[in-house]
Amino acid sequence: MRILVIGGSGQTGRLVIDEALQRGHKVTALIRNPSALPAKEGLNIVKGTPLEPSNIESAFNAVQGDFPTAVIVTLASPKEKGTRVLSDANENLVAAMKRHNVSKIATMSSFGVGSSFANITVIMRWAISNTALGHTYADHNHVDEILKKSGLKFVLLRPGRLTMAKKAPVHFFGDDGKGLGVFAGLGGISRSSVAACLVDAVEKSTWDRSTPVILN
Ligand SMILES: NC(=O)c1ccc[n+]([C@@H]2O[C@H](COP(=O)([O-])OP(=O)(O)OC[C@H]3O[C@@H](n4cnc5c(N)ncnc54)[C@H](OP(=O)(O)O)[C@@H]3O)[C@@H](O)[C@H]2O)c1
Repeated sequence: MRILVIGGSGQTGRLVIDEALQRGHKVTALIRNPSALPAKEGLNIVKGTPLEPSNIESAFNAVQGDFPTAVIVTLASPKEKGTRVLSDANENLVAAMKRHNVSKIATMSSFGVGSSFANITVIMRWAISNTALGHTYADHNHVDEILKKSGLKFVLLRPGRLTMAKKAPVHFFGDDGKGLGVFAGLGGISRSSVAACLVDAVEKSTWDRSTPVILN
């Protein structure tokens, strides 16, 4: 399969690209600065941003006769009031996917988004409600709304604290991370584990239209 990766120059996005290539997939990465990624067999790099619909169109059409059949998003959002980096990118992607009859999108969300807010630590709940972190979470919450009403086969993975540890077994805690206790999510999950899960999510239908909280 050819996978369109959005956020491929980031810490998790790079691992998604490597994981997908190792599994024999082809990858198109739409990134702002192409020199940020080394050339790799099976990787097509397109310069641009998911905030510009024509750049997404270029990414879909980058390899003639070999359209992406799934999208993986690992973007970050600035901690600025009113930021819509995540929501605008996902909204633009949904429109492009519909035009190209692509139905599968796996987006990295975060533990604490949507109904999982009730189950993260009290400190994180406080930080989301009282610091600039809340702006990023508001953006993630908009993505939830956009993908849930898109009619697409979306997967919103909600990792706890991200680490740079090695790939390790992943535990799933349902759509809202219930029952994790007072230190919920602090143990975290490695970005490499999240990357593998995102590729799993586009390969399989196991988590379609769900929002699993994931931890190592
Ligand atoms: N940190 C945690 O513990 C944690 C836990 C759960 C979930 N998360 C979520 O994980 C995400 C961050 O993952 P990460 O650490 O792998 O990200 P990262 O290394 O910061 O990479 C972010 C990616 O987003 C791109 N990007 C950022 N702003 C952009 C913009 N305005 N336009 C286009 N592209 C833009 C970057 O592109 P450039 O290279 O061009 O800048 C880069 O590819 C966030 O959404 C965060 O909420 C984090």
